[in-house]
Amino acid sequence: MPVFLPDNPAKDDLLAGIPTLWLNPHLKHNDIADPGQRHRSSQVADAEANWRRLAPLLQLLFPELESTGGLIQSALIEAEKLRDALGYRGPDYGRIFVKADNDLPVAGSIKARGGVFEVFMFAEQLAREKGILTPEDSITALAQEEARTLFGHYTIAVGSTGNLGLSVGIAARSLGFKAVVHMSADAKQWKVDRLTRLGVKVVRHKADYTTAVEQARSDAEADPSIYFVDDECSELLFFGYSAAAKELAGQLAAAGVTVDADHPLFVYLPCGIGGAPGGVTYGLKAIFGDNVHCFFVEPVQSPCAMVHMMSDSDELVSVYDAGLTNRTEADGMAVARMSAFVAEAMRPILAGIFTVADDDLFRWLWQAQDSQGIRLEPSATASFAGPGFIVAGDQGRTFLAEQGLAARVAQAAHVLWTTGGAFVPQDQYARFLERGAAIAEASARNPVSANGE
Ligand SMILES: Cc1ncc(COP(=O)(O)O)c(C=O)c1O
Repeated sequence: MPVFLPDNPAKDDLLAGIPTLWLNPHLKHNDIADPGQRHRSSQVADAEANWRRLAPLLQLLFPELESTGGLIQSALIEAEKLRDALGYRGPDYGRIFVKADNDLPVAGSIKARGGVFEVFMFAEQLAREKGILTPEDSITALAQEEARTLFGHYTIAVGSTGNLGLSVGIAARSLGFKAVVHMSADAKQWKVDRLTRLGVKVVRHKADYTTAVEQARSDAEADPSIYFVDDECSELLFFGYSAAAKELAGQLAAAGVTVDADHPLFVYLPCGIGGAPGGVTYGLKAIFGDNVHCFFVEPVQSPCAMVHMMSDSDELVSVYDAGLTNRTEADGMAVARMSAFVAEAMRPILAGIFTVADDDLFRWLWQAQDSQGIRLEPSATASFAGPGFIVAGDQGRTFLAEQGLAARVAQAAHVLWTTGGAFVPQDQYARFLERGAAIAEASARNPVSANGE
């Protein structure tokens, strides 16, 4: 049944699978502080404190975290050369940064921030319940034999398009849990192979992500020794991601970036089911309030957040309801139906959503490598369209005018969140680059900007 979408400047392009920007009509000022909301900003601070508490254990289990004392963090890189390659020249574009979660330790994607957090929080809770971790014990006791033996009786299960499975599988195996990852048909073989090598059981589904999650959930319900990481509903994932906001705030300050009413911050986040970009957005709103403007980005055939949030429906609307295919090379974002709780949390705080074409993802992947040596997977490049939409697009200009930012845009900072890539095997990456270079060459001969303007 085709979905009813209200009139909106982005509607026709959305339905036609053409890159577009949708502005959220429900955006409210300072809504994160509203006590009527289901979540509280103190939950972000709790997540940050929990990460710090888990850090000594993480450092013990993942030696690559030595330099950060066990914190899973990524660099903030000024896109000095990349911005030129993307066509964002001139003062109107302010300063442009890449938040390099593509290089995030432990799992090589933004999913480390959620998946690792949830698995470690569960492990701690289980160990406390079973009396293995007392208030006097160091958290590092969870790496000892007694805890590992306990964890070995439990299975962590998750449905995944790939990267969440990697992060949950890696985290679970590091503590001695068994792990089962239900992969959607979109998952890339190298992600399956990597998990299998770690001793994770991978169940491959012919169906899409929503089906993989449903299967994982129903298996877990039938067996009390299975703990299910539920990407559609998990608040632990959401708040695990949210802690990235404080990290970014510190890095912006260190780079001399002021964020206030005269110096807006724009953040662009690739979206699959919505948990990762939603959690980061929530954390950023808790810190910067009205001075940060967060946008999700999705593939043109998998814009599950855009169709649902545009529809205003109480029931979840999927991309199939809008006649779209959910086919994309951006496996991390190949999600047909967004998380209902993320949709609700984003309704008053998300500035908007834009869509991108697969060819552009590959072109940007090549440009990121060529200009600044940044290694990405296709999903992770999607945010690159952001400054173009906001600064140079019609809808972007409307947004700036409505928010009173038109005269301040040159003082803005833009953050392109690059969400995965470090673990892509070299032969696969070489093929990505080849495809991206060919597209870049063709579009240099026949230039059309990503937002079609
Ligand atoms: C590289 C990458 N970027 C973005 C996302 C989107 O995250 P979410 O599904 O939580 O919206 C994913 C999800 O797997 C991903 O793998």
